[in-house]
Amino acid sequence: MTSRAAPPRVELRRVTKVFRRGRERIVALGPIDLLVLNREFVSIVGPSGCGKSTLLNIVAGLEQPTSGEVLLDGQPAPERLGRVAYMHQRDLLLPWRRLVDNVVLPLELRGVPKHEARRRALPWLARFGLAEFAEAYPAQLSGGMRQRAAFLRTLLAERPLLLLDEPFGALDALTRAGLQEWLLALWEELDRTVILVTHDVEEAILLSDRVVVLGPRPGRIVVEVPVDLPRPRAYDVVTHPRFVELKARVLGALRNQTLPEVHRDGP
Ligand SMILES: Nc1ncnc2c1ncn2[C@@H]1O[C@H](COP(=O)(O)OP(=O)(O)OP(=O)(O)O)[C@@H](O)[C@H]1O
Ligand SMILES: [Mg+2]
Repeated sequence: MTSRAAPPRVELRRVTKVFRRGRERIVALGPIDLLVLNREFVSIVGPSGCGKSTLLNIVAGLEQPTSGEVLLDGQPAPERLGRVAYMHQRDLLLPWRRLVDNVVLPLELRGVPKHEARRRALPWLARFGLAEFAEAYPAQLSGGMRQRAAFLRTLLAERPLLLLDEPFGALDALTRAGLQEWLLALWEELDRTVILVTHDVEEAILLSDRVVVLGPRPGRIVVEVPVDLPRPRAYDVVTHPRFVELKARVLGALRNQTLPEVHRDGP
């Protein structure tokens, strides 16, 4: 039997999205061609409003592309909802559920009995520094706690493909660095594919195998920067000369896209 490489976990073929708002037509995205391999960690960066969340919504199946096709594991996947774990840009915790009950929601939806779901979640709550607040309601938590809870809920969905939209956006620098390191270690130990949307270029490089830079709306791929830093990585890789070079490249690509009208004098 001939062995073949696994098909890409996600493939976007000429995907576009056009929204209609009344009589207005908003071309939000594309055309985009993108391959994400099994167990790959890909970050997407781009200016605000360029269509990053729209792209994740399309991969998740919450939106359908206006044209083009989405394949999961090499197969056209018109019914994708429920096949991926998705952490939205807004945390969307249910206000009437305690923290722990929010976190175990994906397990409950899969039919895991509540006490068993809670038992599985407890060590994770501790790892995320949330154990003390397990019985609190979202309104009683800080923004950072809500975001960690939403992130944990996404992990507990136990899907091979994770879509993360600014998962650490509302966190202070220290908590953020801690969670980045933690995600790095977790991804290296688990069999997951990740697409991460972030505004933080260092975060993108630290975590990813590849950084995809989108231009302004309608977002199209401007450049893909492979991150050839060795793994396992630790946070101190940010001082590595290669890291600094990659960061300059991604920032340069972003700057060229976002400030086309700026004329710079001198060097
Ligand atoms: N449901 C919708 N109806 C109409 N327009 C929409 C809808 N969703 C998104 N848009 C528009 O599509 C464009 C892309 O939005 P999107 O939320 O994908 O951007 P983004 O890159 O995620 O931005 P940010 O970095 O600020 O989160 C924006 O102009 C937005 O106003
Ligand atoms: Mg967004």
